[in-house]
Amino acid sequence: MSGPVSNTAASALALLERDGASSVCPLRWEGGFLYLLDQRRLPEEEIWLSYTNASEVAGAIRSMVVRGAPAIGIAAAFGLVLEAYALQEAESAAFDELWMQAAGLLQAARPTAVNLMWAVRRMVNVFSLNKDMDSMDLPELLEKEAIAIWNEDVAANLLMGRMGASLCPAKVNFLTHCNAGALATGGYGTALGVVRACKQMGKTVHVFADETRPWLQGVRLTAWELMKDGIPVTVIVDSAAATLMRQGRVNAVIVGADRIAANGDVANKIGTYSLAVLAKAHNIPFYVAAPISTIDYNMDSGVHIPIEERAASELVSYTSFRPDIHNPVFDVTPNELVTAIITERGVLVPPFSHTIKAVLPPLSVQ
Ligand code: MRU
Repeated sequence: MSGPVSNTAASALALLERDGASSVCPLRWEGGFLYLLDQRRLPEEEIWLSYTNASEVAGAIRSMVVRGAPAIGIAAAFGLVLEAYALQEAESAAFDELWMQAAGLLQAARPTAVNLMWAVRRMVNVFSLNKDMDSMDLPELLEKEAIAIWNEDVAANLLMGRMGASLCPAKVNFLTHCNAGALATGGYGTALGVVRACKQMGKTVHVFADETRPWLQGVRLTAWELMKDGIPVTVIVDSAAATLMRQGRVNAVIVGADRIAANGDVANKIGTYSLAVLAKAHNIPFYVAAPISTIDYNMDSGVHIPIEERAASELVSYTSFRPDIHNPVFDVTPNELVTAIITERGVLVPPFSHTIKAVLPPLSVQ
């Protein structure tokens, strides 16, 4: 691997280290290998797993070694870089066919987060435009694109953080759901990026983190990464949210998103919709922080968003008893419950069908 490309990889990390923005990052790209922090093992153990081809990376996405919409997109992009290096010696026709198969495999690894499809499409665009290039040079070009996707995500998070924090009072108690933090992105986080930016601006912050049944992203990931950065966090069971709101202990609900329809309907971790209803009932702002790559400009409304159903065992991992179980892991919050969508291109407010249209879609869908 050539020097200049790897140096660019360092810039996402450099952005994060600047001002001590965040101490957590879910991936590393080093010496031609992708390393993923195994999120299934957190918080007990920090284990890094290494990956050498697209099929392994698709497996890591399916099994939640890496999770969170932007993070799975970035991981998939690097999966396609690995695949290109692995196919470097193959004949041109075989290279094309096998690489495109790998793209299909990665794209299908999880259905709801549109960042995954978006990142793969960005890689496919680079591939299609440069197919005639020498197969020894093409992987390097794809590597540059994957690194750009990562860098842009971190830069977007830092921008969203600042914009979101400017909406918050000097003393703010957030309620968040799932993990929309450094672990779910290229680093820093979307919803938790806003929390981090509040702290960096000198605001007094406290985070109530829903434990987030059934995978427990809140207690295992959100609490872990906030504690690592010295941000006060209290974990609650998901069903305690209403009581806290009623007690006046929450100033703002802030969540990330897996896909936002063109009308502002928001797909995110199951339970987000109930929080939005509760926030409305208690007159508390409900903010969604997400990069433009999470907006699906081709989907007019959230009703069409594919919702992933995961194994029943995730819900009853503490027992061998197996009742009939339904385990949809995302839900769709109707746009009328959303106060604002914080993006790197500005804070979007209702009517979202107008304000979303007014920000340019990401290049790969233009
Ligand atoms: O099933 P997960 O853990 O991948 O779900 C993640 C979420 O729902 C996050 O809130 C979302 O991806 C936004 S991450 C910035």
